[in-house]
Order: sequence, then structure tokens, then C-alpha cells
Amino acid sequence: MCGIVGYIGAQEKKKILLDGLQELEYRGYDSAGIAVISDGKLQHFKAVGKLKNLREKAADFRSEGPGAAIGHTRWATHGKPTELNAHPHVGAFSYVVHNGIIENYRELKEELEAEGVRFLSQTDTETVVHLFEQKIKEGLEPFDAFKATIDRLEGAYAILLISEAAPETIFFAKNGSPLLIAFGAEEIYFASSDTAVIGHAKEAYYLEDGEYGYACPGEVKLFGPEGEKTISTKPLPADKAMAQKDGYRFFMEKEIYEQSTVISDTMLGRVLEDRVEFEELDPSLFEGIDAIKICACGTSYHAGLAGAYLLERMAKIPCQVEIASEFRYKDPLLSPRTLFVTISQSGETADTLEALKMAKRAGLKSLSICNVDNSSIVRESDAAILTRAGIEKGVASTKAFATQVMVLWMLTLYLGRRNGAMTPEAIAHELEAMRHAPRALLVGERLHERIHRLSKRYLHGHGFFFIGRDLFFPLALEGALKLKEISYLHAEGYPAGEMKHGPIALADAELFTIALMPKTLLYDKIKSNVEELSARDATILAISPEAFELADDFIRTEEADHPMLEFFEMMVVTQLLALEISIRLGNDVDMPRNLAKSVTVE
Ligand code: F6R
Repeated sequence: MCGIVGYIGAQEKKKILLDGLQELEYRGYDSAGIAVISDGKLQHFKAVGKLKNLREKAADFRSEGPGAAIGHTRWATHGKPTELNAHPHVGAFSYVVHNGIIENYRELKEELEAEGVRFLSQTDTETVVHLFEQKIKEGLEPFDAFKATIDRLEGAYAILLISEAAPETIFFAKNGSPLLIAFGAEEIYFASSDTAVIGHAKEAYYLEDGEYGYACPGEVKLFGPEGEKTISTKPLPADKAMAQKDGYRFFMEKEIYEQSTVISDTMLGRVLEDRVEFEELDPSLFEGIDAIKICACGTSYHAGLAGAYLLERMAKIPCQVEIASEFRYKDPLLSPRTLFVTISQSGETADTLEALKMAKRAGLKSLSICNVDNSSIVRESDAAILTRAGIEKGVASTKAFATQVMVLWMLTLYLGRRNGAMTPEAIAHELEAMRHAPRALLVGERLHERIHRLSKRYLHGHGFFFIGRDLFFPLALEGALKLKEISYLHAEGYPAGEMKHGPIALADAELFTIALMPKTLLYDKIKSNVEELSARDATILAISPEAFELADDFIRTEEADHPMLEFFEMMVVTQLLALEISIRLGNDVDMPRNLAKSVTVE
């Protein structure tokens, strides 16, 4: 996830770019940069860290007068967050900014290097600017050179390119990553999201995948696979705050809806035809390792619990999961043959960080699964896998959890292949299911409407039990946590088979049981557990692809052929249920009482 902006016009370009990037900083903030072409000359500024560093660096730079400019705020995927890896990437006479991943960049890079091109960065993006300049050197006109360049790209991209070969022009292309063109009185703007241009422009065109073109003063040419296209603009929202939420009532709601997209980002370039690869991992990390210990807090701990089922069952690696605050004081016995895996959305959670330091002192190798590059936990770990959920603003974690679980599923296939525990056929079966995960995470309008209607029946009572078995037990824990965080109603997650060992004593009509009843995993077992509760008059909300006659309420999920697809779909249902109950109770969904997004105290 990165943010890009572009501008053609005579106003102070630096200010427009920096203000636009400020609005997109939520998409990534490990480095930022701008490039301006005016009077036919290119100039650029880059800085590591937040945008304020770039503002300081470019403080004395003036950029009024006709010209074109591009800017970028980065969320590192290829290469560390250094100034050299920051965008815009420079060639001999051109600059490019890019959001997405060029999957075939290695092949392109080798080709270019063989032709004598020297690369400055470790990024996939730099290939684009060199490819463009090679085409110019071959004699192509600038736009033909740009078209020939994007024809070679595989993967996801939103690209803006400026060049001394065509001053006052921005070349643009979109495939899989967001990009819009907005129109002011005399000016033309580009951005990843409309919040960056609201206030400057009144109309915008949101590009479709496969579209590309160029813009120069007074002219925008748009092309698609079928040739030239006309641009039909839409009015831009006037209210910035609303636009940041893309029309959703709360960030949490927006983030629930984003899950289908961000999970694709998590998989991008890692889920390959026949295997999972993590370019960021040195295989030597796993040498001499025969067990995994996962350590995390809250939602991230729940992701770890789900991951442990997958790692043990499929990759055949013994895997324990610990709550970081407990782990720290239990004088744990640690073996250097155990890989210590921390999971954290923020990368700053004090208990998880301290647990990691303890494990390191005991000589364990460490891997973090984290959403924030360059965070303390990532820096402290021997290796990191970034979850690529994008910034999560709602305090109650949703999309971060989905991406953590996805990374753990991917890690299972990676390790299962590595240690020979999984056959190529078993891996192929999992990969096939994995590719369907974005669809399982889509929020259907009818589903949301049904949960909204149903939620009014669940605003009281003396408590909720979310129950599930196997993988669906951690999901039950997570569903209960979501509900209590934002509704302030008491909720517990419980293994369904454990209810009869005590909690069933609570059962009466005012005890709400949310039963996770997947068809692909232990359906008959969970069914009998729910029957036991129903016989004691508990109110049952069943979530299942199969109608359940004893349920008081029923939410039907899709028939699926893999438990993880049921997992993701049921996860969305529990998130929406918590959201709708909280809204009905009039609570502040995004900033629930007593909580903070990043828990940096013990
Ligand atoms: C719940 C939630 C928290 C966090 C926990 C750990 O919605 O967000 O339970 O999961 O505070 O935070 P991270 O993942 O940042 O280490």
C-alpha cells in the first residue's frame, strides 16, 4: 500500500503534492518523495520516515509556474525503507511513482542490466523508469515508449511518470491499484484516493484496470484495451471527513469492507502457481528449527491460535501459542530449536516486544508478523513478514486480523513444502482455496442488511457465548472480543465441547449463543453441542451454510469446500454483528471507551 499524487498546473506544486500526500499518509509512511518538472528541468526531494521529514527537507524549495509534479508516500514491499528505495525513482531524465507490485521485475531488471542500465534501489518500481528510457533511446515517441513499457509489466500498479522528454506531461496507468484523475479550473490532479484532491477539484474520473494515457495542460487522453476512451467524470464529495471513510459510517465498517482487497495485497507476489514464497525470508532462518512458539496479545493472539491449528495439522510443526503478558513472567523454558514468532498489528505492543527481547536473550531466532514496517517489533526481529493490511484506524482490529491469519496460512504452506510434510497435491489444494479467500471476504449487501435487522434482538441479555470448535474456537474468541470492545456487552468465546463442563449452567433464554457451525469441520460435533444448549433454553444464533432447526436466528453462509473459506466468511459475520449492535447502542465504534490503538504500556 502506497499513496501517489500528481499535478499539472502553475500553482505552487510542492504544497499541492505535500498536502495531498498528507491525506494519503494512512496508506504508508515509511518514506516519501516528490519530483517536479518546471522550465523543462527535473528536481526531486526524498526523506525516510513520516511526511514531516520531507516537508522539512523541501522547506526552501519553490515550485511555482507551469509544470508537472508527482509525489509518493511509501509502504515498503521490496527493499527496506531507505532514501534510495523511496519514490520517485529516477532514470537519466525521468521520474516514476508506483503503488502496487511489479511481479516480473526480476526478469525486466536482468534484461535492463544486460543492456548496461545501473540500478540504484532494491525496488521493483525502478525497472519502470529505466524501461521507459530505454524505449525512448530506441527512438520511440514518449507516449509510445510509455505504452511499450506498461505492456511489459505484470502485477498490480498505479503509475505516474514524468520526463524531460515531454515536459508538462504526466503519463499514467492503472491495473489493480487505485488511481483517479481530478479536474480543477485550469489544473489536472492525480491521486490514489479522492481525499487528496477534495478542495482543489470538483470532478474526478476513477480509472478502471487496464486504462492508461497521458495528461498535459488542457488535455487528457485516456486509453483502454480497446483503444481511446471518453472520460466521464463524477462530482467529488465536498466533505473530506466523509471521503476519508469512503462513505462508510465508521472506519471499522470501511475496514471490514476492505478485507477482500487487502487480503489480495497480502498474497500479492507471495502466492505463486505451485507454492508460497516470502522474498523477505532467508531460508536459513528455519535451519535447525523443530518447533514454533507464537507470542502475541488480544486479536493478534487469536490469529496465532488459529495459525497453530494450521501449522501443526498441515506443516507438522509443534506449535505453542502464548499470551505475551503471561509469557513474560512465567520463567519459560526455551529451546534454541524453537522459532519465536510474534504477531502484532502495530509492532509496538509493549508486552509482545518485551517477550521478543526475552526470547532473543535466550538465543532463539525470531520472526515477526506485523502490519507496520520499521516498527519496534519488526526492527527487533531477525525477520519479518508484513501483513500489508494498510493503516487500520478503527481501534477494534478487523482487517489486520484477517491478514495475520492469511500470513499464517501462507507460512504453513511455505514450511510444509520446505520440510516435506505437504505433498505438491496438498499444497495445490490449499493454494486453490487461498485464491478464493478474497471472495469469501466480500461483504454482501443482503448479508449486511440481514445482520443489521437481526442486531436489534441482541441489545440486552446477561451475556453472549461465541462457540466453535477447532479453528473456529479462536474465531469464537475473536468474535466475542469484537463484541465486548465496541458494544460493552459481556461476551465470551468458548470451545463448544467445553460448554458442558461448566458454562452450560448459565443457559437460559437471556443467554445468547452465537454458534459457528461450518460444514467442512466437525459439523456433527458442534451440532450436538448446540443442541445441548438449545435444550436448556439458550437463545441460539446459528451461523452456518446448513439450516439448523433449533436456531432462534440463522445467518446462512456460503457452502465452501475449505474450512478457511468458511472461517473468513464467518469472521465477517461476527465483525458485522458487533458493528451493528454497537451502532444501535449509540457507542463510538471507532474509539471505544478505555481502549487505545497501540498499547505501549505493560
Ligand atoms: C482488539 C485489538 C487488540 C490488539 C492488541 C495487540 O481489537 O486490536 O486486542 O490486538 O492490543 O495489538 P497489536 O496487534 O498491535 O500488537
